[in-house]
Amino acid sequence: MTDTQDLAALQRLTELDDDLDSDALDHLEEEAEKELMEEMENENLACQSPSMSSRSDESESSDYVFGPLAPDDVADILHDLREVGMVECLRRHIMPNPSRILDILLSLGVMLPRSMLQEADEEPYMLLPILKMVFIRILRQRQKLPHYNTVDDAIQLLRKSKRIVVLCGAGISVSCGIPDFRSKDGIYAILAQESKYELDDPSDMFDKETFLRDPSMFYSFAHSIYPANFEPSPTHYFVREIEKHGKLLRMYSQNIDTLEQKAGIERVVQCHGSFASATCTDPRCKYQVDGQEIRDAIMSKRIPMCKMCEERRKTKAIKRQKIDESDEDDHGLAFGIMKPDITFFGEKLPDEFEHCVLADRDQVDLILVMGTSLKVAPVADLLSHFPPSVPTVLINRTPITHMAMDILLLGDSDPIVGYLCQQLGWPCEHAAPDAPTRVGDSNVWLFPGAETDHIATETTITD
Ligand code: OAD
Repeated sequence: MTDTQDLAALQRLTELDDDLDSDALDHLEEEAEKELMEEMENENLACQSPSMSSRSDESESSDYVFGPLAPDDVADILHDLREVGMVECLRRHIMPNPSRILDILLSLGVMLPRSMLQEADEEPYMLLPILKMVFIRILRQRQKLPHYNTVDDAIQLLRKSKRIVVLCGAGISVSCGIPDFRSKDGIYAILAQESKYELDDPSDMFDKETFLRDPSMFYSFAHSIYPANFEPSPTHYFVREIEKHGKLLRMYSQNIDTLEQKAGIERVVQCHGSFASATCTDPRCKYQVDGQEIRDAIMSKRIPMCKMCEERRKTKAIKRQKIDESDEDDHGLAFGIMKPDITFFGEKLPDEFEHCVLADRDQVDLILVMGTSLKVAPVADLLSHFPPSVPTVLINRTPITHMAMDILLLGDSDPIVGYLCQQLGWPCEHAAPDAPTRVGDSNVWLFPGAETDHIATETTITD
């Protein structure tokens, strides 16, 4: 490969936003399975093909019983995936020979529609998003590191780690008076109860297409999530304390409330953007303003218009003595209005996110996941881009069951960080609670605020 090809290939491998979502992969596999069944019916074969049996067997060692690669080769790839993380694994195994993507997929028992296999012959990289999703699924089955289990282990890790990644979500701002999204009293439950908006799903309030079809809906609601007079929580200040100790590699925040900045945290990435700026929705204009300029419109539930587009329309109208209809209505989409630079579903994350993940993955030595359900990609998949050998501690009101965490400190994050700070001898705005209760012999520890309904049924995953 030439240098330019090399660079382009590397870029493709590392783009985090091109990941296929899990449902899309299921859909492809269903399609392929249907094709196979039809073929077998046509040929009058019994339903015992090697590919079917390999697919139904999900255990790690036998998930590649059939395929063009030797089992040892597949084992090597999976070993690298777990040890060095997805990006490095792709760089090692795919970059030198992209046609291996198909071989790996087949060897892992992934079934693909025939049309896709034919296309992939000519353009192997078209299967890359599928391979990444398959790898993410494998990494989600990350094995818990057996030697980290107790609160004391978590404290030791905080004491000795030098490059900590904090991955946080709405839960860390709940005590500031800002609801999270998916809890029973979260934003989505509120939207569903109010039923004054015509939304198939409450999360569509943050969907780009829905917004462009009817921005008035978002602007009748946006004032309620606008970060007005909120103050950071003790959890925000705990992250600041990690930074003051020179241990914060990066804080990845999914929150749009900018309380990280208010707490003085510097090494923070706003993965889902913020209200700090706003951009015109017309792709031909993209005029950007400081968020303060649309604040009044948001607070009074008005749609903020783009000054540039209005100016252009006026000039055109004077010239032609009439407003050009095509400018007024672009295929029924609301172009020429300002949208806060918060990331909606269907939008790419800020480039900074991708750059930071690539820079951090070789350095991170501890991951703290705080106040997030880890349900929204690509941030939720962040852990799969870091080496699985990095210890991971969860601080959350409810457990996370779809990814293995090493230590689970469950409860409200403020008392939990109060306890950790007391033990570490760090200052904290929240008083330390009593020592937590351990659930059996597990790695789950209960602090004030822990939601025990989840815990009773879900602790087994942690053993
Ligand atoms: P979620 O509402 O999905 O998850 C918040 C998590 O915080 C839940 O697991 C709660 O149990 C936990 N929690 C609530 N209060 C807490 C407290 N006081 N202390 C500790 N934990 C607490 O919010 P996110 O994971 O942030 O995206 O959601 C991710 C993304 O989904 C958001 O950024 C937003 C949303 O759709 C967009 O709008 C694009």
